[in-house]
Amino acid sequence: MLHKIIEISKEAGSVIKKGFGEKLTLEYKTNVTDFVTNIDKASEKMIIDFIAEEFPKHNILAEESGGDNKGSEYTWVIDPLDGTMNFANGLPIFAVSIGVIKGAELVAGVVYDVMNDVIFAAEKGSGAFQNDKKISVKNNSELEKAFVVTGFPYNIVDNPDRAMERFNSMLKHATGVRRLGSAALDLCYVANGIFDGFWEVSLKPWDMAAGMLLVKEAGGMLSDFDNKEVTVFTKQLLASNGYLHRSLLDVINLKK
Ligand code: IPD
Ligand code: CA
Ligand code: CA
Repeated sequence: MLHKIIEISKEAGSVIKKGFGEKLTLEYKTNVTDFVTNIDKASEKMIIDFIAEEFPKHNILAEESGGDNKGSEYTWVIDPLDGTMNFANGLPIFAVSIGVIKGAELVAGVVYDVMNDVIFAAEKGSGAFQNDKKISVKNNSELEKAFVVTGFPYNIVDNPDRAMERFNSMLKHATGVRRLGSAALDLCYVANGIFDGFWEVSLKPWDMAAGMLLVKEAGGMLSDFDNKEVTVFTKQLLASNGYLHRSLLDVINLKK
């Protein structure tokens, strides 16, 4: 199955690459910062058509077209273009993200970094890979050396779940805080040891599914801000190298 997910991620990626820098059609969702382009839609259609052909009985949960529950134990969780704001503004940081859940468990995940032509892939119990190289989280337990990344939801002006206070707190404690604009890639960069941690509130299942499995399989840790177990439906996510998980939780919870 992983090879099939990689195949379709690359095909969708080639549609996105072709559309990069071209004139786009934008459709607004909740506000001016929240929009979808014709390319997000084309990518999603291609992925869904592929699943219909190869795995016709599987359920689908996709960002732009919603859910299709066929009663299968498998569900494909699809973000056809993660980082739409970057894509539409010409910033080459975006990805295709596809995770597969069996029952309640993530079993496969692929994030395709389109412009760098890099595949991040993981299968439950088999480790995490960047192209063909096995990856693992960073071995750093010093908060003052922490290099971390976050993201903000589209309704950040309403400051959901104290996102701004949490960000301020991290600025004071970590050595570097970044905001790249693609949650799927943020998670892959925790998995491959670039970042020590990533946190965000109000993410959607398609933002996180594949990246969560990558972090787990690379030896990292995942939790909500109360250090409780997370699923793709949880509204808070901290992903870390494991060594810094407690310290990052303290910072995010304004305890430091
Ligand atoms: C967004 C990106 C971004 C995150 C937002 C997401 P989209 O996904 O992952 O990094 O901060 O919360 O909605 O809309 O570009 O697929
Ligand atoms: Ca997304
Ligand atoms: Ca998207």
